[in-house]
Amino acid sequence: MRSIKVFAPATVANLSCGYDVLGLAVNAPGDEVIMHLNDSSQVTLDVLEGDEGRLPREPEKNTVSAVVIDYLRHLGIAQGVSIELYKNMPFGSGLGSSSASAVAGLVAINELMGQPLTREQLLPFAMEGERLACGNAHADNVAPALLGGLVLVRSYNPLDVVRLPVPHGLACALVYPHVEIPTREARQILKTHVPLRDAVTQWGNVAGLVAGFCTNDLSLISRSMQDVVIEPMRAMLIPCFAELRQLALEQQALGFGISGSGPSVFALCSNKAVAHNVTVALEAKLTEAGIGSTVFVSEINLQGPVVKYVQPVSTKE
Ligand code: HSE
Repeated sequence: MRSIKVFAPATVANLSCGYDVLGLAVNAPGDEVIMHLNDSSQVTLDVLEGDEGRLPREPEKNTVSAVVIDYLRHLGIAQGVSIELYKNMPFGSGLGSSSASAVAGLVAINELMGQPLTREQLLPFAMEGERLACGNAHADNVAPALLGGLVLVRSYNPLDVVRLPVPHGLACALVYPHVEIPTREARQILKTHVPLRDAVTQWGNVAGLVAGFCTNDLSLISRSMQDVVIEPMRAMLIPCFAELRQLALEQQALGFGISGSGPSVFALCSNKAVAHNVTVALEAKLTEAGIGSTVFVSEINLQGPVVKYVQPVSTKE
């Protein structure tokens, strides 16, 4: 019997203009799963820390264990699994919390089973975890969490994900204001029709952003990080949003936007020093407004999940 520890990264879904089709992984924060195989045929969630008691403990209802159950069922394996989940980011923060847990669980079980599936083949299982967590199987958090870097979801049906190059040295400032916006609700407020002129603006920006990443053109990335479709509807949910954007851009961020469905905001920066300055300015603004916040400065995660150890566990003689 063996045991494994896997870290899976937080992700910035949408990356401003790419609602449901672009996502970027960061090195911090992230969730950790420790998984042990045992002789039962049950999947159990035995430790869950860092969620302040708010996530479900039943294995079928928590994304980390539900995706493992689904994976084993799909492969026809009756295997006992004990899961420990250590969460380092809050539920409903817009940092891809449920995705990180699901991806860590899937990578852990797949490693323990001898990697019968590729990371790309794990993606549909992780997407089902998203459906469980928020009612929609979007891939713009789970794909970058699984594959690392910047990922484009070119199509959902059929599923077609494309990993894009990331210019060297880019960093991300993440600021989580302590208010909660469940993804399910942040999706329900969205209008389902987009005026053609806004669609044209958005297409130009998404294409420009992808081109900027592919050609290492930071100025083009910066010009393209404008969301005229989703952000105007969600910005009102986020405290001081306009002021936070202005401060981030004053600190030389390349671009600023809502991370996933919020309330976290992010600033893409040319290096970590700029990202640090952005977090200082944004945290101060939120403090002035009486709102607590948690900040992270991180490089882009290019490798995806990290398998931290695999070790034998002593079994009964
Ligand atoms: N693309 C999704 C949304 C990401 O914006 O609702 C949720 O984290």
